[in-house]
Amino acid sequence: MYSKRQSKMENSDTEQDVVIKFMKGPLFTLIIDKAVERQTVQLLKKVTKLEEDIKLLREFNVDVIKLLCIEKEIAINLREIDLSFYDRFIKKCHDVHFKTKSKPSLDVIEEPKAKPKIVSVIEIKRFVMDCLLKIGVQNEKAKTFTNALVTADTRGITSHGLNRLEHYINHIKDNVCNPNADPTIMFESESTAVVCGNNGLGVVVSMFCVNLAIKKAEKTGIAMVVANGSNHFGINSYYTAYAADHGFIGLAFTNTSPIMVPTGAKQACFGTNPLSIAASAVNSDGVVIDFATTTVALGKIEVFKRKNQKIPIGWAFDEDGNLTDDAAVGVKVKRLTPVGGTESHKGTCLAIMVEILSGLLANSAYGPHIPVWGVKPFKLANIGHGFIVIDPRKFTPGFDKRLGDLLGYVRKLEPIDPKKPVEVPGDFERRAMKKIDDQGGIEYPESILNMIEKLVKDLGVKAPKFKS
Ligand SMILES: NC(=O)c1ccc[n+]([C@@H]2O[C@H](COP(=O)([O-])OP(=O)(O)OC[C@H]3O[C@@H](n4cnc5c(N)ncnc54)[C@H](O)[C@@H]3O)[C@@H](O)[C@H]2O)c1
Repeated sequence: MYSKRQSKMENSDTEQDVVIKFMKGPLFTLIIDKAVERQTVQLLKKVTKLEEDIKLLREFNVDVIKLLCIEKEIAINLREIDLSFYDRFIKKCHDVHFKTKSKPSLDVIEEPKAKPKIVSVIEIKRFVMDCLLKIGVQNEKAKTFTNALVTADTRGITSHGLNRLEHYINHIKDNVCNPNADPTIMFESESTAVVCGNNGLGVVVSMFCVNLAIKKAEKTGIAMVVANGSNHFGINSYYTAYAADHGFIGLAFTNTSPIMVPTGAKQACFGTNPLSIAASAVNSDGVVIDFATTTVALGKIEVFKRKNQKIPIGWAFDEDGNLTDDAAVGVKVKRLTPVGGTESHKGTCLAIMVEILSGLLANSAYGPHIPVWGVKPFKLANIGHGFIVIDPRKFTPGFDKRLGDLLGYVRKLEPIDPKKPVEVPGDFERRAMKKIDDQGGIEYPESILNMIEKLVKDLGVKAPKFKS
């Protein structure tokens, strides 16, 4: 990891020519050449003051993991650095400690990327279960949560699978969420219910709600169950596809932390407020519509940030209200555009619709009153969800045939690009599932592998056994 090094300096503090080298990796490593004289090490120690004081790096909003001091090498492993970090660090070095005529120069090199690795679905579930049990989650609840989380990855929705595991674990460890709380019914009629999640796991609360809605819809043909006092529930389609697998049409809505800037506004007010509808058709076919009402889910920008990739212009704003292509800025500032972009009002309309069908009906927190997820100090979320379950058999016969016919028709439309057949919502996920079956497991990129390694160390759980 520390093999490529290069740094120069003259002997005195005043006439140095310092190259500060960072290695961009899963952990960002500041490298000083082994051959460099003691002074550089001392200077950088002074700059970072890590041994007595990590304030300077805190100023950069950097999570300092560790300082390694091996012989004359010094390596500061940092993570979650936003892209302007290097420049600001160098300027600070210059302003504070280097009495040079010119600023130290900067060299950022890419660490060779580790290859993605494949792990079987059973094994990754075992790993997630072990993590949850280790932090005190009861077995049944851990199982329910694990199934939902890993299902996101098996369906190719990588923004909401293992990518999010650390967030959930941190919330549980910080006692922000009570993972062992049972949801309770506050009010119910034949076809409706209001559930209190008692600050439990969003997935546990939501499975309770959707099962209750199915039970009611079996009798009444349609039922709606809403929940308050809940937490982040992962992917909406976990619940709607579950209802569809039981022969119903399922709809799911949730409000989320306010990070969407409504059309024409400067501040964020709504969450990514995702919605989903799923229904089964004949011949094991079906449709699963599931998306955020922002242009993209925040998790997708997190994936770009982890990969150090730029995001397309149009997804997120920077601090000054300008559109940005910097994924790190997108994640940090948390101001996303509504679906349809800045020139359309339709995303804003959909976000309000989702609020009506989740937070407002359930009397949970709503809109700007929801705390931002994953930002310390963590606060109680009091998220609201809504689930509608419809029994198509209680309407007109043959719904599944007509749906199958419609989906088939759409798929057979002549594509613009012959190599890209027209798909219906749910086909992408089906392709992802087939790929995982064919390759014998889920492929995780370096960023997730590092997170897994960190959890193995932090929690003392057994590392997953990888296939490759
Ligand atoms: N719980 C939360 O707080 C929260 C917040 C935001 C998003 N999410 C989840 O994040 C996930 C991703 O959201 P997103 O907005 O990035 O979704 P997305 O933009 O990737 O859209 C996904 C939907 O589009 C369909 N689709 C994909 N390609 C298609 C094509 N060529 N033709 C027709 N349909 C196609 C998919 O089948 C799926 O229904 C969702 O599962 C959502 O529930 C959760």
